[in-house]
Amino acid sequence: MSYILAIESSCDETAAAVVSPDLGGGVTVHSDVVRSQVSLHAKWGGVVPEIASRNHVVDVLPVISSALEGAGLSWGDLDAVAVTQGPGLVGALLVGLQVAKSIAYAHQLPLIPVNHLLGHLSAVGLHGPEEPQPELPSYPHLALVVSGGHTAIYKVNSPVEVSLISNTSDDAAGEAFDKVARMLGLGYPGGPKVEALAHKGDDRAHRFTLPRLKGRPLDFSFSGLKTAVLTAIKAHGALPEGQAMADLVASFQRAAVHQLVDRCCAALDREGLSELTVAGGVACNQLLRVRLSEVLTSRGGRCFVPPKRWCTDNAAMIGAAATHLAPRYLERGASFEDLELNARSAWPVMS
Ligand code: KG4
Ligand code: ZN
Repeated sequence: MSYILAIESSCDETAAAVVSPDLGGGVTVHSDVVRSQVSLHAKWGGVVPEIASRNHVVDVLPVISSALEGAGLSWGDLDAVAVTQGPGLVGALLVGLQVAKSIAYAHQLPLIPVNHLLGHLSAVGLHGPEEPQPELPSYPHLALVVSGGHTAIYKVNSPVEVSLISNTSDDAAGEAFDKVARMLGLGYPGGPKVEALAHKGDDRAHRFTLPRLKGRPLDFSFSGLKTAVLTAIKAHGALPEGQAMADLVASFQRAAVHQLVDRCCAALDREGLSELTVAGGVACNQLLRVRLSEVLTSRGGRCFVPPKRWCTDNAAMIGAAATHLAPRYLERGASFEDLELNARSAWPVMS
């Protein structure tokens, strides 16, 4: 069995996990530690890069120690170290990278650099040591990555070969949830707050139209929806309260989910595929999970969504991607080349 220690610090979560690959293509999570900085950023209404970097410095070593301890392992049991190299906030990424390089150098381990988006795509194979391996999609399939920074559909040809099918032309879906929550004074991060309030609202109270981008039928756009919510607030005359606020967020959530489902169906049709995986923080949204599962089932296809703890940022998913990339690094062993790695703030999933 090969054990990989994975480290993630691309945004506002400091995370470490120990994973190992299964024979059947899944990935066993032996420990999974996430220290969120959400409460530190909440009063600013979003992630402040400098605050994120400073707190990664404080948290990263205790988080790694507790991941090793949780797996019941010591340094000598590890076969490789994996770390998020990008995309993300440079200062935040550099903290994880420097620590991973130090561990690789001190313990003579290969260092596996991982693309954060490939991590999200790999979360679908994760399971706890006592849980059975989840059902896995066949290749090729499509994957929707929907988070605070990304909203895109990929064609996944193999666990390490991915191409971009469609992208957002403006905001990411999670960003739209966060901005709408901010307009309404609901706090940060907005997604869970909007979802909780939407349960009490009438999702047909407001009719928000589905955007169509000329010549790019598969691409997403959320800025018009955000503006439509602002227009509805202005038309109300004051910040809506009580039922009026619940109706507004329910209608917004319905429109956002409708667009995500619409583009996934159009992309599956165009590619002639019937299986979809979903990942990223917005994949925690219950309406999105249910709607995509229903739609895929009604089309005779299958939808795979990881448990919610592995949809938001975590290190287990970085470890999962690393298990797929590992063979060439394990064969090569520790290398001084690894110590030259730099953060990649913008890094398309394949390049
Ligand atoms: O993947 P993630 O943890 O970090 C990024 O890489 O961005 O995603 C965070 C995003 C935030 O925008 C948050 O508001 C959104 O995911 N989110 C949700 C829900 N939970 C988190 N959006 C809608 N519904 C949710 N339940
Ligand atoms: Zn993410």
